[in-house]
Amino acid sequence: MTKGKIIGIISLKGGVGKTTTVANLGAALSTEFNKKILVIDANFSAPNLGLHLGLVNPEVTIHDVLLNRVNANEAIYQHEAGFHFIPAAYISRQINPFALKKKISYLKDYYDIILIDSSPCLNDEMLSAMVASDELLVVTSPDYPTLSTTLRAVKLAKQKRTPITGMIINRVRNKKFELSIEDIEKAAGVPVLSVLREDIKVPESVYYTTPVTLYNQKASSAIEFKKLAASLIGETYKDPRIFQKVKDIFKKNISTENVNRMLMQND
Ligand SMILES: Nc1ncnc2c1ncn2[C@@H]1O[C@H](COP(=O)(O)OP(=O)(O)OP(=O)(O)O)[C@@H](O)[C@H]1O
Ligand SMILES: [Mg+2]
Repeated sequence: MTKGKIIGIISLKGGVGKTTTVANLGAALSTEFNKKILVIDANFSAPNLGLHLGLVNPEVTIHDVLLNRVNANEAIYQHEAGFHFIPAAYISRQINPFALKKKISYLKDYYDIILIDSSPCLNDEMLSAMVASDELLVVTSPDYPTLSTTLRAVKLAKQKRTPITGMIINRVRNKKFELSIEDIEKAAGVPVLSVLREDIKVPESVYYTTPVTLYNQKASSAIEFKKLAASLIGETYKDPRIFQKVKDIFKKNISTENVNRMLMQND
């Protein structure tokens, strides 16, 4: 029997890439690494994981689970790529978000990893995702406003005693005005596990309601999501792009996020 873990993907800022991360980690862990994966939309007031996965108007949702209308296993949909997901309802309903943990924890027996997408607001919805998770990944971007909200999220997670596995820095443009990985790690006291560049293939894939890891296997974001997925299960994913292989041969220093991923595997 599988005894999986629940990983919450959080940020206290909207639009940094939580839903994109959840959809892509789910797809990559399932298709590249053959893991049993469930992704859950816990952004109860403003959900959109369903849209990322091609489901526009779900009949049964996590809201029905929280309203005691169905069991969590009855709200599961299967994506054509093989992984499972529970969407949320677009019309908001009165629910108790804190019921989430109790309602989904038995599903750990059936999945290797359950990923939770969450609300960017400091409210009960966001806190419910935090307490329902065994560990957290914090999504941030390399600017001061986002970093300040990231520091709040880290503090909150400590208060709630949910360990943070690492940070994902998204939408990096490699500009001088951006905060460095080292700055962000130092401020937050959390290792950076992944650095995703601004990649036009991401919004393009969202338009086609398909995670970029399935939509364009060679996109820089797709490869980075696969590397992150691998590290979550103690495996490594080798960048298949020729130019990257050549670059690696000449590169003197290994990147911080790569070192962090290796350290995590040795834990
Ligand atoms: N690396 C990237 N490069 C380019 N665009 C990106 C990247 N990551 C995410 N985006 C785009 O940013 C937008 C917001 O992403 P997403 O919906 O995943 O954020 P979110 O944190 O879930 O937002 P919210 O808090 O509102 O739920 C999307 O349109 C997505 O296509
Ligand atoms: Mg979202």
